[in-house]
Amino acid sequence: MTVFSAVDVITTKRDGGTLSDGAIEWILGAYMRGEVAEEQMSALLMTIFFNGLVPAELRTWTGQMIASGERLDLRGLSRPTVDKHSTGGVGDKVSLILAPLVAACGAAVPQLSGRGLGHTGGTLDKLESIPGWRATLTNDEIRDQLESIGVVVCAAGPGLAPVDRKLYALRDVTGTVESIPLIASSIMSKKIAEGTGALVLDVKVGRGAFIKDHERARVLAATMVALGTDHGVATVAQLTSMDAPLGRAVGNALEVSESIDVLKGRGPDDVRELTLGLARIMVELVGIGIDPETKLDDGSAYDVYRQMIQAQGGDPDAVLPLAPRHEMFVAPRDGIVQSVDALTVGIAAWRLGAGRARKEDPVSATAGVVCLVREGDEVTAGQPLFELHADDDDHLARGRDTIAGAVDLGEGRVGTRPLLLERVGK
Ligand code: URA
Repeated sequence: MTVFSAVDVITTKRDGGTLSDGAIEWILGAYMRGEVAEEQMSALLMTIFFNGLVPAELRTWTGQMIASGERLDLRGLSRPTVDKHSTGGVGDKVSLILAPLVAACGAAVPQLSGRGLGHTGGTLDKLESIPGWRATLTNDEIRDQLESIGVVVCAAGPGLAPVDRKLYALRDVTGTVESIPLIASSIMSKKIAEGTGALVLDVKVGRGAFIKDHERARVLAATMVALGTDHGVATVAQLTSMDAPLGRAVGNALEVSESIDVLKGRGPDDVRELTLGLARIMVELVGIGIDPETKLDDGSAYDVYRQMIQAQGGDPDAVLPLAPRHEMFVAPRDGIVQSVDALTVGIAAWRLGAGRARKEDPVSATAGVVCLVREGDEVTAGQPLFELHADDDDHLARGRDTIAGAVDLGEGRVGTRPLLLERVGK
């Protein structure tokens, strides 16, 4: 392989040039081997932050991220594979319902997930509140479970796109996380390496999302769809609103409990609507002509959920843990709820103990917020607006201080706003 100079690669990008395939292959490989210094990679990431990557560079960059580790081979399963990735939202427990639902329709869903960071929760943290449930599976166990049950939700092993872990840690401390090519390559390298044949991306946009602006979310969605398609994965993105928390529950065990409600045909309408919207795209992508609503309503999705939890050591009938400390936050006056702010609710849940600031931090299984009102509801002074759950008084106090800013009470009537905003990709 040609050896390049890291300084030449940096200055080429700094001066608006285009990196060759060879230069990208070399710099990512050399960085993995420890031959490119952290400060040099930091400089390159900053030039990419400002100058971007053209589509050909991004395709190669992502390809090299995939090649830095293993790519699971899920061909040969008796069902077509399709997965979903969400860019992260507050109260977003959709994976817990969607994965078994799409499996009940006849697809295999390999949901290799991560843990939560900051104000958005992670699917694994939620499922780990179920007694006995195990997040770590071997590749053979993943394949076997996909064949037998049609769904696995487990930890993405360290072998998938390992260079992403190093790059993400560096982006985190160099102010380069919010770059569309870097976000797109980070997400898509892991999803493509997981071996799924088709993928739906739920790109959240709004106050509680990592991308607040609709146009930027659209560009991120189109960039990820192009990367998936180029790498042979049938990919569609759905932009969805994340101004208000999804559903009522925000917090690990609280969200599992709400997901079970939806699987049993109850639960909040918005969670059901988003789950069915994404499920319809997933079955369409793999050519299954079943309306997922029938599989939710006849209990098949719940049956598959129970099998999935049991297969990974969990007890689907176990009573979920409940926080020892609870308290209501009540309306300070009469009014109409103008908005419930997803970001503030997410931060309150995090301060109550449901989330982590650093990836090594533990999370509480039981802490969180239950939102008792939604936009447009009329409330009277003293009416409970939020239920706060925490493991101790200290966390409860931190959540209480934050939640006061989550609701805006006014006089005007509020119209409903759509949840499913726009589809990107065929
Ligand atoms: N999620 C990822 O996996 N990577 C990013 O860069 C951003 C969100």
